[in-house]
Order: sequence, then structure tokens, then C-alpha cells
Amino acid sequence: MFVNELECVWKFLCRGLGIILAICVMQSAVFAADEIAPEDWEKNKLNGDATAIAAGKAHWKNIGCYACHGRKAEGGVGPSLSDDIWIYKPTDKMVYNAISRGRSGTNMVGWSKDLTPRQIWELVAFIRSLYIGDPEKIIW
Ligand code: HEC
Repeated sequence: MFVNELECVWKFLCRGLGIILAICVMQSAVFAADEIAPEDWEKNKLNGDATAIAAGKAHWKNIGCYACHGRKAEGGVGPSLSDDIWIYKPTDKMVYNAISRGRSGTNMVGWSKDLTPRQIWELVAFIRSLYIGDPEKIIW
């Protein structure tokens, strides 16, 4: 009888531990899925993503980026964003910051009030899709 009771307590404890372990595993899976927020991305996770590029193209039209940078980002009032000539080192983050914050003292204003961080990255993906420069110069 005593042995049986011990076994019972033991089984109970084990089951409890099992449940705790299962919860821990589930929690870590949730944390893994909870990826870095778009505003903290260093590189654009949406480059090459057809849906994001299409969305970026829509923002390009709606906001009117084309008015200064051209329909295919070939340049106009603002610089070309499709070739190898950039004002700053053309990392994804630089392009993101230029769109988000703008450039003080120029007519490139920031769009962080009109676009969410994700929408800005969609614009970056669209800009990357227009690149016609030397593939060897891609550093982003
Ligand atoms: C009113 C004209 C105008 C509009 C509209 C405009 N830009 Fe610009 N943009 C500029 C100018 C001018 C510069 C150059 C700023 C400088 O000298 O640093 C620039 C710079 C940039 C740069 C940085 C280029 C580099 O080489 O450093 C990016 C990226 C950019 N614009 C993207 C956009 C996007 C995306 C939009 C739409 C959301 C947009 N721009 C709307 C005028 C404009």
C-alpha cells in the first residue's frame, strides 16, 4: 500500500513536471515567433518578396514619390534610386531612414507619419526591385 502511494505521488509529480516542461517549450516557440519589430530591422526582410514589392509600388504612387524620383526611380528633381550613384552608402537602413525621417534642408521630407515601418520597408523592397546597376555593387 505504502509503495503504491509513493508511486502515485511520483507519477503526480512527473506529470506536473511534464506539463511545466510543455508550457516552457510552447513559450519559447511563442518567443521565437515574436520576431524583431520592423522599425528595428537592420536589413529589409521583404526584398524580393513579390507581395511586398507590389504594396511598395502602390505607396510609391499614392504618396507621389515618382513626382520627384521618376516613375521607375530614374531620377528627376530627386536623385535616381535605381542606379549606382547614391548620396549615402546605400544600405537598406539608409534608404529606410531617408524615407522615414527625410533629409533636413532638402525637399525630401520624412514620411513616418503617413507610413508604418512595414510600409516603408515595402517601399524599400520596391526600390530594390527597380535596381539596374551593377549587381556586384549590391551591398545591402
Ligand atoms: C518633393 C520631392 C521629393 C519627393 C516627393 C520624394 N523625394 Fe526622396 N528625395 C528628394 C531629394 C531632393 C533627395 C535628395 C536629398 C539629399 O540631398 O540628401 C531625396 C532623397 C531620397 C533618398 C535617399 C537617396 C540617397 O542617395 O541617399 C531616398 C531613398 C528617397 N528619397 C526615397 C523617396 C521615397 C520612397 C519617396 C516617397 C515616399 C520620396 N523619396 C519622395 C526629393 C523627393
